[in-house]
Amino acid sequence: MSQQTPTDAPARPRVLSGIQPTSDSFHFGNYLGATRQWVDLQETHQPFFFIANMHALEPGPEPKVLRERTLRSAAQLIAMGIDPERSAIFVQSQIPEHAELTWVLECLTGFGEARRMTQFKDKSAKEGEGAASVGLFTYPILQAADILLYRPAYVPVGEDQRQHLELTRDLAQRFNHRYKKTFRLPEPYILKETAKILDLQNPAIKMSKSNSSPGGIITMLDDPKVSAKKIRSAVTDSGSEIRFDPEEKPGVSNLLTIYSALSGRSVEDLVASYDGQGYGALKGDLADVVVEFVTPFRDRTLDLLDDRAELQRVLRAGAETASEVASATLADVYDRVGFVAG
Ligand code: AMP
Ligand code: TRP
Repeated sequence: MSQQTPTDAPARPRVLSGIQPTSDSFHFGNYLGATRQWVDLQETHQPFFFIANMHALEPGPEPKVLRERTLRSAAQLIAMGIDPERSAIFVQSQIPEHAELTWVLECLTGFGEARRMTQFKDKSAKEGEGAASVGLFTYPILQAADILLYRPAYVPVGEDQRQHLELTRDLAQRFNHRYKKTFRLPEPYILKETAKILDLQNPAIKMSKSNSSPGGIITMLDDPKVSAKKIRSAVTDSGSEIRFDPEEKPGVSNLLTIYSALSGRSVEDLVASYDGQGYGALKGDLADVVVEFVTPFRDRTLDLLDDRAELQRVLRAGAETASEVASATLADVYDRVGFVAG
């Protein structure tokens, strides 16, 4: 398999994003909010996608679980449509420049600025500052380094990452101003419709691996029958009318969002076609759409996981492409801050 190298790639703007290998399977929020856009953007951009295993280390997973989930994440990204022929798909820890640039950016980050980042702030508000690790504190700065190394135009993510993107832009600007223009200011690429997929049992919160109950989250590798059942038992709102109204009817609106994203039909078209029918009809049909979507995805992922050596080879090739770009950026940075060349 050949990889595009920066020198022979057409001059397309770059996209970059990462995902943490923190569970055995991605969920519908990850897919619809973020990785589906990754697949689409491959067509028009020069793509860099990575598995954020350094970020995933912070809560202290078992080593063999972290390793397994890293490979499972890679298999899922490829099964979703990330094409290693077109995209550099790689593992964060294989590119040491991520950690190296983090230090430089840490020296530009205010303590108060880091403390205001929601993940750290929420955890220390709940459990006290002593409960949070320094890794959680500096997490967003590692993320800024992940991004800035590749000078991407866009970073496709869900809404919950907006604050991290803002910090990234601030740090890029600060560096450019203090030293010399080095970093491109990346734009978040957040699709309004699917920026926040809600929990199926509690549509007041986002679907998430840490807060959702098992019935509230659809994982991509669940048995499709289980996923269908979760859709059929999703909480719907009072009344019986099918209407897109995220304020008054968050449950039904969330189902319409998922339905529209998976089927390609517009929400208006769906609302019109369910006119006069109850929630049961909508949920039954969406359950079928979900089964049709996840069944081949799951089969492809399991097939890819049958050949781990090949997966690791693909990741190594991705790391080679990433490394060329990352090392060139870091060399510029080291030069500009005044580090003596080796
Ligand atoms: P994570 O699992 O935290 O690494 O998230 C991976 C990507 O999925 C990030 O871009 C998140 O913003 C996105 N994401 C996670 N949960 C949701 C959700 N419920 N709705 C939309 N996007 C999400
Ligand atoms: N923090 C992101 C999340 O939880 C994952 C991530 C790490 C990331 N580095 C990144 C996303 C760089 C985009 C760009 O989803």
